[in-house]
Amino acid sequence: MSSTNSHVITCKGIVSWGKGEPLKVEEIQVEPPKSYEVRVKMLYASVCHTDLLFANGFPIPVFPRVMGHEGVGVVESIGEGVTGLREGDLVIPTHVAECRTCENCMSEKTNLCLKYPISYNGLMLDGSSRMTIGGQTAYHAFSCSTWCQYMVINLNFLLKIDPKTPLPDATFLSCGFSTGYGAAWKEPMLQNASSVAVFGLGPVGLGAIKGAKSQGAIKVIGIDKNPMKEAKGQAFGMTDFINPEQSDKPIAELVKDLTGGMGVDYSLECTGVPPLINQAILSTKLGTGKIIQIGVPEEANVNINILELLFGRTLKGSIFGGLKPKTDLPIIFEKCKNREIQLDELKSHEIKLEDANKVSELLKQPDCVKVLINI
Ligand SMILES: NC(=O)c1ccc[n+]([C@@H]2O[C@H](COP(=O)([O-])OP(=O)(O)OC[C@H]3O[C@@H](n4cnc5c(N)ncnc54)[C@H](O)[C@@H]3O)[C@@H](O)[C@H]2O)c1
Ligand SMILES: [Zn+2]
Ligand SMILES: [Zn+2]
Repeated sequence: MSSTNSHVITCKGIVSWGKGEPLKVEEIQVEPPKSYEVRVKMLYASVCHTDLLFANGFPIPVFPRVMGHEGVGVVESIGEGVTGLREGDLVIPTHVAECRTCENCMSEKTNLCLKYPISYNGLMLDGSSRMTIGGQTAYHAFSCSTWCQYMVINLNFLLKIDPKTPLPDATFLSCGFSTGYGAAWKEPMLQNASSVAVFGLGPVGLGAIKGAKSQGAIKVIGIDKNPMKEAKGQAFGMTDFINPEQSDKPIAELVKDLTGGMGVDYSLECTGVPPLINQAILSTKLGTGKIIQIGVPEEANVNINILELLFGRTLKGSIFGGLKPKTDLPIIFEKCKNREIQLDELKSHEIKLEDANKVSELLKQPDCVKVLINI
C-alpha cells in the first residue's frame, strides 16, 4: 500500500516570501503522504507570535515558507505504516513529538524527544518537502504548515483529539496557551502558595497565569505594557498587574513592592523582549528564585545579568512548556471539556484564509489576543 490517496492536491495557503515581505495567498501543490506521514485537511488555524519570527527568517531563513503551526483539521489520507489514525479523525499538530522510547521521553525531566526532534529547517524527516508553488519547493513551518487548506505531517507530530472539542479551543491549545500553561505546571514543579511574575500577557502569558493558579500559586503578578491586558489577565486568575510604562521604576522594583521587598518564587518570561530577561531574574527571590524563559527573542544571543544569577537563582529554558504531547495535552483538553480552563477570552479576531495577509496589522492592534483563521 502507498498512501490512501495518491493524488497531488492543489489548494490555497499563506506564504512568507522573505524578511519584511508581505504574506501572500498562493496556490500550493500538496503531495500525498509518504510512509508514516498523514495528509490533513485543515479546518481552523491560529496565529502564534513565533509565526512572525518564522516569517522574518528566524531561526533559519528558508523561503518560500508555508506558514502556521497552530491548527486543527481532519485526516484526509494516510501513508504506509500509519497506525492509530484513520481518515476523518480530528487532529492537531504539535511541534514537539513523544516517541515514548528514547531516553528523554522516558525521563520526567524533559519533553524534548530525541528520536523526533523539533524541526526548524522546513523539511520533513527525510530531508524533502511535500509542497511546491509553481514547481518551486516550498518549506514547512516546524513539522507542519497549518495556514494552508491541506498539510502533510509526520505521524509523530499529530495528536488525535475528541471530535466534540470546539475547533477554536483545539487550535489555541496546539501551541501558545498550552505552552504557557505547561511552563507553570511542568517546568518549575511549582509549590502551593508560591508567588509568580508573568512577563507578557499574550496567549502564552495568559496560559502561564492559568497554569500558576491551577498549581495553587497565591500571588500571580501579570506584567504588560498594554493596559488592555489587565482585564485579560484577571479573567485567567491574575492577582496583581504591573504596567511598566506607568512607572519610572524598573519592573523588578515594582514586583518587589508587591512582595514585601522579597521578590517572587518564579518568573515566567513570555515576551521574548531581551532586556526583560534581566528584569525577570531580578524579580525573583535571592537564593531560591527560578526563572523560566519561554519568549523567543529575534536574536539568539542576549545579555544576561550573570551576577544576579550567581546569587542562587536558576534560569531554565522551555519549549512547549515542558509538555509531552501524548501524555500531558489530553489532560489540558479534559480540563477545557469540564470548563476548569475556559478559553473564550482568547479569541479577539476571526479572519478567512484569503485575508491572512492582514495578520501582521491585526497583531499590532491593542485589543488583539488571538487571531483565528477560518480555513
Ligand atoms: N518556548 C516556546 O515553546 C514558545 C511557544 C509559543 C510562543 N513562544 C514565544 O512566547 C512569546 C509570547 O508569545 P505570544 O503569542 O503570547 O505573544 P504576544 O505577542 O501575543 O504577547 C506578548 C505580550 O508581551 C507584551 N509585551 C511586549 N513587549 C513588552 C514590554 N517591553 N514590556 C511589557 N510587556 C511587553 C505585549 O504587549 C503582549 O501582550 C513569543 O516570544 C513567542 O515567540 C514560545
Ligand atoms: Zn522520544
Ligand atoms: Zn507557537
